[in-house]
Amino acid sequence: AKTRHFKWNVEYIHWSPDGEESVVMGINGQFPGPTIRANTGDTVAVHLTNKLHTEGVVIHWHGIRQIGTPWADGTAAISQCAINPGETFLYRFKVDKAGTYFYHGHYGMQRSAGLYGSLIVEVGEGEKEPFHYDGEFNLLLSDWWHKGSHEQEVDLSSNPLRWIGEPQTLLINGRGQYNCSLAAQFSKPPLSLCKLRGGEQYAPEILRVRPNKIYRLRVASTTALASLSLAIGGHKMVVVEADGNYVQPFSVQDMDIYSGESYSVLFKTDQDPTKNYWISINVRGREPKTPQGLTLLNYLPNSASKFPTSPPPIAPLWNDYNHSKSFSNKIFALMGSPKPPPQNHRRIILLNTQNKIDGYTKWAINNVSLVLPTTPYLGSIRYGINAFDAKPPPDNFPKDYDVLKQAPNSNSTYGNGVYLLKFNTTIDIILQNANALAKDVSEIHPWHLHGHDFWVLGYGEGKFSEKDVKNFNLKNPPLRNTAVIFPFGWTALRFVTDNPGVWAFHCHIEPHLHMGMGVVFAEGVHLVKKIPKEALACGLTGKMLMSNKHN
Ligand code: C2O
Ligand code: CU
Repeated sequence: AKTRHFKWNVEYIHWSPDGEESVVMGINGQFPGPTIRANTGDTVAVHLTNKLHTEGVVIHWHGIRQIGTPWADGTAAISQCAINPGETFLYRFKVDKAGTYFYHGHYGMQRSAGLYGSLIVEVGEGEKEPFHYDGEFNLLLSDWWHKGSHEQEVDLSSNPLRWIGEPQTLLINGRGQYNCSLAAQFSKPPLSLCKLRGGEQYAPEILRVRPNKIYRLRVASTTALASLSLAIGGHKMVVVEADGNYVQPFSVQDMDIYSGESYSVLFKTDQDPTKNYWISINVRGREPKTPQGLTLLNYLPNSASKFPTSPPPIAPLWNDYNHSKSFSNKIFALMGSPKPPPQNHRRIILLNTQNKIDGYTKWAINNVSLVLPTTPYLGSIRYGINAFDAKPPPDNFPKDYDVLKQAPNSNSTYGNGVYLLKFNTTIDIILQNANALAKDVSEIHPWHLHGHDFWVLGYGEGKFSEKDVKNFNLKNPPLRNTAVIFPFGWTALRFVTDNPGVWAFHCHIEPHLHMGMGVVFAEGVHLVKKIPKEALACGLTGKMLMSNKHN
């Protein structure tokens, strides 16, 4: 195993992700940030310097469990103090599990500003993937607004709420096309054909393949809002990995991917080799107002400028949730994967509602809308300062709450309390969806857990009840770090609190998180060793460090 060092500068740069010049958050002058590649067992050491001048920054390594290094999780106000302008922070952590991951900013709305990139962990020496392939590609999916992230943040924090609306462009590896299309003759509404020479920042990254080979396509979504459907024209895909865990292979024509999820699919280049094919991403789960994102599957030796003869694949209807559910329900752990403990010690039911607090539109969990404290939890709990609400948030919501009715919005509050989880116990989480503020509206929320993978025990409709427990899948539930709740439904998760630290659990939709849609778990924090000073140098832990110096 190796230690792989990276020197990164985070700064604002001018960039044209979709042909319109914007200010984006880049790393070492590029957008998206550089791809990290490592092998299982390696240590990744990112020396991150904040060159932003006027704001702090952190980077979260999404899907990496940070076993033994909770201070490297990169969540501002949770695992560390934001890195100040001019300062450097060392993220040093082990990548212990092969898979497709990514990283992104986790302070304010810096992910929406474009602070993200791919993190790929390949099997170590002597290890083998449980499938074969001849070549691989990596697609990092995102969505893009022309309005800057700071303005979006102000809009979302305003009374009345100014909703950010749908994205202007979908990006594949940071590349998309606005106001023109790669597949102009098929586009509706009609767009002109993009005049590209190939060197443009918004020119698509073309996938060049040879006939009759098997390719692995790694896909991860770091969208701020959009749920996506991905398809390769004319080609079947076999899903083999989800969130860094192997799954029982199954084949699909199109797949749903929610923000925070990653997959590997295999496809065979078994179609007419004299042709090229489209790869498309489309918005699902919200009424699409964004043109599809496209790139080309180029069968060599055809020229990449050879136009595919069939139109780009379109997605199933945006609100065909049965299609989405049937995809989710096909995902099972590969045989031989770790199984969940048969019993839980504690069950926490989390009701997801949209509420108004003093006229401001917020998201709340069991009536609490999360506002992060000024002293990060990890240091705060480790050193007994406990600079947050002493009362933990509730484990349940009132029995008579009707999840099918408009949120009554009676008594939601802001809070920053923590779920204190007993170390080495089994926790069940039931994510309960509900009606939002508008009538007959319930949204999709992809929930992401830091510090752990969890088993997805099942999905259900309406309000969760005790009798649903007997239908939990304890035989081969998939391990994931992100799971979605469908409109008016619930999702059941199980995990073991075996990783000392403080871990965020939140909706991965950036504006939802910003509006309070998250909770915080703490487990075994007394077991955490030597938190680096740089992670503590703010708030009350900062004061503690200063007074230690004087003594
Ligand atoms: Cu990828 Cu807390 O998020
Ligand atoms: Cu959400």
